[in-house]
Amino acid sequence: MPVIAVVGGQWGDEGKGKIIDLLAGRAHVVVRSQGGDNAGHTVVNPRGTFALHLVPAGIFNPATDCLIGPGVALNPEVLLAEIDALRERGVAADKLVISPRAHLVMPYHLVLDRLEEEARGPRAIGTTRRGIGPMYVDKVRRIGLVVGDLQDPVRLRERVSAAVERRNLQLARDFNAEPIDPRETASRYDQFAERIRPHIADTEPILERALRDGRTILLEGAHGTLLDLDHGSYPFVTTSSCTVGGLLNGAGIGPRHLTTALGVFKAYATRVGAGPMPTELDDEVGAHIRERGQEYGTRTGRPRRCGWFDAVAARHSVLVNGFHALAVTRLDILDALDELKVCIAYELHGQRIDHLPSQAEEVERCRPVWEGLKGWSSPTGNVQDWRELPTAARDYVRFLEDAVGVRAGLIGVGREREKTLFTGALP
Ligand code: IMP
Repeated sequence: MPVIAVVGGQWGDEGKGKIIDLLAGRAHVVVRSQGGDNAGHTVVNPRGTFALHLVPAGIFNPATDCLIGPGVALNPEVLLAEIDALRERGVAADKLVISPRAHLVMPYHLVLDRLEEEARGPRAIGTTRRGIGPMYVDKVRRIGLVVGDLQDPVRLRERVSAAVERRNLQLARDFNAEPIDPRETASRYDQFAERIRPHIADTEPILERALRDGRTILLEGAHGTLLDLDHGSYPFVTTSSCTVGGLLNGAGIGPRHLTTALGVFKAYATRVGAGPMPTELDDEVGAHIRERGQEYGTRTGRPRRCGWFDAVAARHSVLVNGFHALAVTRLDILDALDELKVCIAYELHGQRIDHLPSQAEEVERCRPVWEGLKGWSSPTGNVQDWRELPTAARDYVRFLEDAVGVRAGLIGVGREREKTLFTGALP
């Protein structure tokens, strides 16, 4: 009864969507368990190119149950638009089930996300402005609305109107902002509810049955470990728990059931939004990686900051997640470079250190200690067997494995699902 967690090991955008889409062919259940539509997963498969934000990437396999678990931040409008866009392209969302425990993103969360970011000025986090942070704040304050509230139209209207009215006071007091119309919001949520209701059901019995019947469950991570609320570079983090532990909790599966924790890492590094990134390249190599890899945000279109692979930050991810294996993605993006670098340690206050400092200000001061490696200067996109990769490319992957202490089970050499090489190291 394999339970496989697929988690981003860096700052998100590692190519988890492709790996999930690939593994979903063999999965009976795929669960999205944290974050919201601040995530963006690009999936390229025989049905086309899709950008998913909330719908689990298992949706392309008609036999797979796709669950949105209790830990998710759900914007119903975004979800419905995504379902419609999928349907228009022949992908049905009939097997999508949403936990009543998941929390709802409300219009005032989006307004607050923008206003709070603006108020931060130069200390802005660079959020995706999807309202996810303010929604999780309400969840923790125990004043949030949940998907279960969509099930009773009368209760929903009352709760939405009351919540909007309460929040209008805060918007006026703290930001002198325009009020949101409570009745109009209640009507909109009523319309969303009608369409979402058929998808709402307790996810626990589905998971329990799947575990009992020995079915394969995939836990689909969003964002990345270095953006994790507890383990990332706080405050430049997202507001959910993006680690293996967070996924298990957000889905509602005990750790004893986990069989494989797969850490997805790009062969280099990218980050969107503010916060420290010791290996960032502000030069033509960084620009080359950005253009060749089309490193622009799926959610916001922002250019991603690009840099060399950071093995120190990656070891931190390996520790907090306990990865059994790695998926190294986008190796082909490095094809044209004749020299590569990997950060193997940092220099901080004149001393060499080999761990990621806890505080963002300290990480900001870290200077990378590099190890230079030979590039392979030849295309890898059509390679079909890992052993046929150029020697320097295999050496590069081996180097990353040794630097972080975990073997790579999968290697990505292109955007399409098939452009993934299995090394045999996947447990
Ligand atoms: P928020 O999650 O929108 O609050 O944004 C907080 C930080 O996390 C910002 O730096 C975002 O750019 C970043 N972030 C959130 N989700 C993702 C993602 O899926 N990929 C990459 N960065 C993300």
